[in-house]
This record gives sequence, C-alpha cells and structure tokens, in this order.
Amino acid sequence: MRLTHAQPKSLVQAAPLAVVLVPKGKPGDLPCGVLGERAKKLMATSAWKGEPFDSLLVPAEAAGGPRALLVICVGDKDADTRAFRRAGILACEQGAKLGARKIVAGAVAGAEFDEARLAAFGEGAVLGAYRYPLKKAKTAPPSEVSVVSSVKGAAGVLDLARVRAEGSNLARELGDLPGNVCTPRYLRDTAEKIGRKGKLVFRAHGKKALERLKMGGILAVNQGTVEEPFLLELEYKPARYTRTVCVVGKGLTFDSGGISIKPSAGMEEMKYDMCGAAAVLGLMQAVAATRPKGVRVIGIVGTTDNMPGPGAYKPGDVVTTGSGKTIEVINTDAEGRVVLADALFQATKYDPDAIIDLATLTGAIVIALGHDAAGMFCKDDTLAARLSEASARTDERLWRMPTYDGYTKMVEGTYGDVKNSAGRPGGSCTAAAFLFHFTEGFVHAHLDIAGAAWDTSPRDGLPGGASGFGVRLLHEAITSW
Ligand code: BES
Ligand code: MN
Ligand code: ZN
Repeated sequence: MRLTHAQPKSLVQAAPLAVVLVPKGKPGDLPCGVLGERAKKLMATSAWKGEPFDSLLVPAEAAGGPRALLVICVGDKDADTRAFRRAGILACEQGAKLGARKIVAGAVAGAEFDEARLAAFGEGAVLGAYRYPLKKAKTAPPSEVSVVSSVKGAAGVLDLARVRAEGSNLARELGDLPGNVCTPRYLRDTAEKIGRKGKLVFRAHGKKALERLKMGGILAVNQGTVEEPFLLELEYKPARYTRTVCVVGKGLTFDSGGISIKPSAGMEEMKYDMCGAAAVLGLMQAVAATRPKGVRVIGIVGTTDNMPGPGAYKPGDVVTTGSGKTIEVINTDAEGRVVLADALFQATKYDPDAIIDLATLTGAIVIALGHDAAGMFCKDDTLAARLSEASARTDERLWRMPTYDGYTKMVEGTYGDVKNSAGRPGGSCTAAAFLFHFTEGFVHAHLDIAGAAWDTSPRDGLPGGASGFGVRLLHEAITSW
C-alpha cells in the first residue's frame, strides 16, 4: 500500500473516501465541502456522542468531490498515538469495505497531526491492510492512503511508518501461518529472501552445521521431529559502525511440548511459538529498508518444532550446548530456552554491545501481564531505559520484571550446569535467569512476548491473531541508539 502526504484541497476533490479525524464531543467545521456540512449537521442532531472511535459515514448525494466522508473520533484533545494508530486501522478497514482504492485523510483542530500522531496513523493504515494469505479475504485494502497535515517532512515520516508497519505485517503473516506451512525451512527461505532483497548478509546453519558447531541444545529439541532445524543469521553491516546489536528470536514453528506433551485444548495456538523469530525477520526487513547509520545489526533465529516423535529428547536427558555448558532437561516443554541457549551463544561471538532476545517463552508471563505488555528482563539499567523509551514512543508496551539472584539459584542443575525448569513459582523469572547463563559478561535484555505476540480476540483495533509485537519497538530502539 502506498502512504503519501496530500494537499489540504485534496479532501474536497474527487476521491473515493475522505476521512476526517475529530476530537471528543461535537466538532466545529469539517473541511470537506458540502459533505462536511452535512456531517456536521448530522452530528449536531443525531445521537453522536463523540466518544473515542465513534465513527460516522456520510455518502455523497451528488457527483463531484469525495464519494463518502468518514468521521472518526480519536478522543480527548491530548489523544494519544494509540488512538491515531487505531484510527488509521479503522480508516483502512472502512475504505476496504466501501471498495475505495484511495483514501484521503485529514484532521480538524483538537485532533491535528503532529509527527508522532502522523506516524501512528500511517502505521495503522498499513496495519489495517494486512490480509492473512490462506483464506479468501472479503475485502481488498485500498492501494493508497494519503494524509493531509502540516507536519514538516511528512513524506519521510510516512515512509518510516510504512516500512515499520510492513515489518509488523510480515511478522504477523509468519505468526498466523500454520505449522505445516511456516516450517523451519519456510523461515529459512523467508530470511534468505529478506536478505537478498535488502542487501543483508544471510547465513543459514542447517543440521550438519549445527552438529559441527556442537549446538546440542537446538539439536536436542529437534530430535523428535522430521523437520530440519536452522540457526539463521541476517546481518546489516554499514561501512562505518561504532556499535553492534544482536537481536535473537525464538522460532518454534510448533510446540507440542514434546514428550512432556501439552494438553490438546488450545494446542493449535502453539503455531505462534515462532513469533520472536517472526519479529526478528520483520525487524531486519525494516532495518534493510532504512539502513541506519553507525550501528551494525545482526538478527539471529533458532528454529525447529518441538515434537514427540521417535528419538525425541526426554526428561532427564543432559545435553551439551555450543557454549560447552550442559543443560539438564526436566521438562521437554521448556524447549524455547534450550534452543535460545545456542542462539544466544551464537550472538556472543560477535562481541556485541547489546543482545536483545524476543521469545514466546512462558505461559507464566501471560498470567502475569496478559496480552497488554511484554515482560522485560534486563540487569543493565542503560539498556532497560533505552528499550523503555522506545516502548513509550511506539506503544509496544514493556513491563520490567525482576532479575534477582534467587532465580539464578533456582535453575542450578543437579546433573547439568543448569536445569530447564524450576517449576511454576516465578516461571518467567527463572526462565530469564536460565537465558542469562548463556550471555554471561554481555549486556542482555530478554523480552518474554508470550502474551504480547498474539491474541485470539481483537485488540487495539486489530482482529485476533499475531500482533507483530517487537518490530516497531526494536526498530525505534536501534535507529535512535
Ligand atoms: N511456548 C511455551 C510458552 C507459552 C505457553 C507461550 C502458553 C504462550 C502461551 C513454552 O515453550 C512453554 O511451554 N513453557 C512452559 C515452561 C514450563 C514447562 C517450565 C510453560 O510456560 O508452561
Ligand atoms: Mn514449550
Ligand atoms: Zn515454546
């Protein structure tokens, strides 16, 4: 979808759909000629309350000018960027329902665009254009959304918004695709395409290479499946850089639990267990498109599925990871951390200034935070602050979680250096403590996105499904590093 900026007069010119954002309450004049007049009258006389996301559609009676006007309320005078993003989604959806190929959007006093609001609205418009590929869609999204604003450098703001939202949409598509389609090989091929298109260095380590690297963690989890595992790397390396950031994603294309098998109710949702990997790929696509200065970015994905087939790893097994540290397997369903042990160790080889991992790691974080935020585990206050700031600017919420020594004690193994489960108490915190074992001496933030990465019901104006969480957040963090 094209995202462009437009002149004020385009709101009254012939376009399939004009969208006007208004603040809470009854609005003043609407900039849309005759249609604006009619909308204003309707809002004054009808039951229009002007609550956030109330909308009113006014079709044109005569030819000339837009065929319809859509008024969307974004809330109070200090409406936040979340509301503008949601308005963008709504505009796109309504445009699709009306079969409009092009939308022109503007705002009135009290809801006027500034840079952040414009970016959020633009992101929303592109997010609203996402279509899951394996089901025939009822509507086609518009091919262009044009926004009227007085924001300086609006074209650049909208370009960045589009690139980020396209990264999120890629992550959403990979997340929503089922485990029989989005296999480890599919992620490998997707990463290769992103690399080729975006001029990134692409590396894929298959089973043979993982054996050479002695990555016994990812190999152990892979033992019960017929799929080949991969450790994938996409590297963006500018000519001159002063810092290196590694972003690592958990890529379990399906998590049955393995021998410690999960209950069947809801197990289908475990196709989403690769959302961390999806976010890394979406991020690297956005990094490739924007080519930030001075920072080298390496995206790393560990991918396999977790199945109970012949040869599957078992509770009690002790596996030796690429780092040389041994893991005592207590529960084969705590597989994400076993895969990440190797993926994180791979990241340390680049001697990075920071490692950030995204993983749908624990059910416990869903119990703690629900779907509204990801849990952030980080012992380094500078990195934590950097991520929190990027979080506030992108509305991808992080909630900082504790990293006490007690959790480290809890994951000490009896028959291996670490054990992969310490039971239910503090489940997300002990999982994080486990991961920190494999990044010792490095600055590391672990983001547990098990709740934030998907929801089965609609949220923030988007239908249920994968959210693409992490793409905007990490792109913002990296480009402002
Ligand atoms: N992928 C799951 C975590 C998960 C569960 C994410 C539910 C989203 C919703 C992970 O591999 C897992 O199974 N974790 C276990 C760990 C336990 C066995 C120590 C969990 O959270 O129950
Ligand atoms: Mn599991
Ligand atoms: Zn898992």
